[in-house]
Amino acid sequence: MNNLETLFIGQHLIHLQDVDSTNNFAANLIKQTKVVNGTAILADNQYSGRGQTGNKWQSEAGKNLTISIILQPKIDIKNQFQISKITCLAIVETLNEYRIESKIKWPNDILVEKRKICGILIENSLQSTKISNSIIGIGLNLNEVFQKRNNAVSMLELTGKEIDRMEFLRKLFHKLEKWYLMLENGKNILIDEHYHTLLYGLDEELEYDDGVLAPGEWLRVNGVLRGVNELGQLKIEMDGGKIRFFNNQEVKFVL
Ligand code: BTN
Repeated sequence: MNNLETLFIGQHLIHLQDVDSTNNFAANLIKQTKVVNGTAILADNQYSGRGQTGNKWQSEAGKNLTISIILQPKIDIKNQFQISKITCLAIVETLNEYRIESKIKWPNDILVEKRKICGILIENSLQSTKISNSIIGIGLNLNEVFQKRNNAVSMLELTGKEIDRMEFLRKLFHKLEKWYLMLENGKNILIDEHYHTLLYGLDEELEYDDGVLAPGEWLRVNGVLRGVNELGQLKIEMDGGKIRFFNNQEVKFVL
């Protein structure tokens, strides 16, 4: 790829026409060989793309960004949510360059006016308590036309312009490397502050579906979102003032 503004992210780019899932491809690569930090796997088409919580990720061939980036941050597993934070920050900042204002919906979505423009699937492998490889899978809607289908939206729909995938990627690699270096340099407070300024619903009263009480059963509750703690848990102040912390999949936003 030409004109890259990075030292390592995206410098080694594997561009595939068709693959089941770029995250699967990345995981196999890690098993087979020693992968260079910042290696990226880009696909024109995924025929078995994976989303969070075992969902499928469907994306029209050739229209969107489907990529996995392998990072090797020297951080402990207990800080793994920092990887989600820096990824979200890089995506929001890249969208900003196209004058698109987006928000981070905990834990791994990017929204524009409550519609999903991007989903992230992060899969980590460990060596003792440290992260050895983090596969950051990003599915971002560039040029597909949704017309509100699945509550999704694309950059084309928002800007009226066809988005050049490689140009977008160049900007994204640059932003991700900036935030990755912050993480490596221990700038966790700065990361956290920026993250919270972009967090969807912060300090707002919202409706949630609470799944903590019984598996598979959701109870509609109200609460004020008070942030995300260092473990990546969502902090909600419930009616009556009690503070509760939720892990991924224990709570759903009602959009
Ligand atoms: C979600 O919102 O559920 C997460 C979606 C993540 C999709 C991306 S596309 C590239 C990478 N490969 C996959 O199979 N999934 C991620």
